[in-house]
Amino acid sequence: MDIDTSALFAPIVINGHAMKNRLSVAPMTRISATQDGRATEAMTRYYERFARGGFGTVITEGIYIDQAFSQGYVNQPGMTDEAQANAWKPVVNGIKAHGALAIAQLMPTAATSRTCPEFPSCLHFARRCTRVRGRGRSPSAPRPPPAPGRRARTAPSRPTIRRAPIRG
Ligand SMILES: Cc1cc2nc3c(=O)[nH]c(=O)nc-3n(C[C@H](O)[C@H](O)[C@H](O)COP(=O)(O)O)c2cc1C
Repeated sequence: MDIDTSALFAPIVINGHAMKNRLSVAPMTRISATQDGRATEAMTRYYERFARGGFGTVITEGIYIDQAFSQGYVNQPGMTDEAQANAWKPVVNGIKAHGALAIAQLMPTAATSRTCPEFPSCLHFARRCTRVRGRGRSPSAPRPPPAPGRRARTAPSRPTIRRAPIRG
């Protein structure tokens, strides 16, 4: 079966933004920013490589947008102050150097943060926090004592999140 894919490689303008083709990198969380949310050189190399390889558009990983509630995990990049905004410049320049369009994904994770009244400053690792939807309990919160006549429950096993090696 012959499929005409020529449209994939044709330029398009959306809302005044020119894209040299229809190939876009989907947003992918990487946890490779600094602790205080600044984009790093490794991120610049990572994003630039997609543009060099021919993608017309590169969408960034989810970026937190305020310092009180919206950060979802450590080493997530932010866009909340001058230092964070400036740290994105080399990333954007690296993408644009190859004629690709850079799109920032702004991602407030406030909904999960608000469900934990016990630890309002806790950074929830949303997928690890098995209690967020249930009783609004952080994974690090002390367990309540067992009901009279019942044994204390052991801690539930949680998936381990490992950092992927950053190459490039
Ligand atoms: C490692 C990884 C990280 C991701 N991080 C984000 C993210 O930060 N923001 C987001 O909207 N989607 C994120 N996604 C979802 C992807 O953007 C994409 O929607 C998903 O992988 C499905 O892609 P597909 O429709 O091409 O199969 C992530 C996916 C993966 C595999």
